Amino acid sequence: MTPSNIDPAFILLFFSNGGLCHVLSLALIALLVFSLSPGGIAWASSRSHSRIPGPSGIVLAFSGTLPHRVLAKLSSSLQVAYLMAFSIGFTRFIISSHPESAKEILNSSAFADRPIKESAYELLFHRAMGFAPFGEYWRNLRRISATYLFNPKRISAQGGLRMEIGAQMMDEIEALCRRDGKVEVKRVLHLGSLNSIMMCVFGKKYEFGEGEGMELEELVKEGYELLGVFNWSDHLPLIGWMDLQGVRRRCRALVKRVNVFVGRIIEEHKERRRIMGALDAMNGDFVDILLDLQLDEKLSDSDIIAVLWEMIFRGTDTVAILLEWILARMVLHPEIQSKAQAEIDIIVGSSRSVSDSDIPKLHYLQSIVKECLRLHPPGPLLSWARLAIHDAYIGDNFIPAGTTAMVNMWAITPR
Ligand code: HEM
Repeated sequence: MTPSNIDPAFILLFFSNGGLCHVLSLALIALLVFSLSPGGIAWASSRSHSRIPGPSGIVLAFSGTLPHRVLAKLSSSLQVAYLMAFSIGFTRFIISSHPESAKEILNSSAFADRPIKESAYELLFHRAMGFAPFGEYWRNLRRISATYLFNPKRISAQGGLRMEIGAQMMDEIEALCRRDGKVEVKRVLHLGSLNSIMMCVFGKKYEFGEGEGMELEELVKEGYELLGVFNWSDHLPLIGWMDLQGVRRRCRALVKRVNVFVGRIIEEHKERRRIMGALDAMNGDFVDILLDLQLDEKLSDSDIIAVLWEMIFRGTDTVAILLEWILARMVLHPEIQSKAQAEIDIIVGSSRSVSDSDIPKLHYLQSIVKECLRLHPPGPLLSWARLAIHDAYIGDNFIPAGTTAMVNMWAITPR
């Protein structure tokens, strides 16, 4: 049924019962007509009356497990890979499954903000780099991270730490194999990746399954669950205050625990600095760097906690999932694994482990990593979401301010 062919008998049914009924009926009909428009209700009720093609009704892709695949299929079946409009509740979306429109979205200053969901806001990520509003604070965080955390010299200075964690993961896999005859590789990779980030950011490694390590594991698990949950409050403002799914309540409880956990680490750093003085940027961890810059950059303790906590969330699963795909692909293609092993045997030999300095010479291994990133990009959809800060155009399509623009990286890469 389209707005133009709604049966008059259907409309009459609503108009049979007095004043209030008339108002309710009109509201329902308006809702129905709006939701049947291309792009759905949020587009129909916007002032733009944009003609971007897209499915009517409400797209429920995000309540499932593989939204990037559902949306890719939808835009391919409607033949709107360049740009598709859709609605989730009252949130207006566009999605690109095409390199040209993707480039336009990602290069445009009109899409400089990131949409922030309630869970990320409640977890204080609006004070961290990935979700801070476009402006001076965000630029400063980017500069600090590029200069200190992602600085190539610093990354290579931490090669020893990564080797240590790699060796520990291998020992763990061996021990589990011996004990149980099988290994849950996903868990080993997740905890190895978490420890690698913790070393780089907090300068500290954890034993999981007990004490502080167990607390950290719980905090991270709860955070991932809350950030991943599809929350209707993000898209239906009228019911948002009710917090029907309990996301707000759980986020607030989590933030209290995170503040205590990370606050304790910051205090330990402050205490050590009082006794021993500050470490230089190469030898300190990211907490030291942020404490050094705290006054000049006007960062509060809670800003520092948000920045550190975001790094843990951004850096743990992305790396673990990529590694898991690489291993899965090798298992599926043993001939590729043999070639990778042969390359390592020639370049590194069998008397020592692979180190950072070998990587430029391991061309085949690098290609495997790149191919896995192409086939299985971690965060294929939401990592690439932007918010239009003012009205803009993608090609000839008018995009009103406040629209969430997504790039479906998974759909774009050929497979
Ligand atoms: C395989 C590994 C990783 C992949 C595939 C990946 C992917 C991405 C993607 C797609 C974005 C969004 C970029 C954009 O919107 O322009 C992003 C942003 C970000 N990532 Fe990663 N990431 C990885 C590892 C890491 C690690 C290890 C860290 C931290 C130690 C990290 C920290 C961040 C931060 C802070 C942002 C926000 C940057 C900003 O808003 O400017 N990522 N990542």
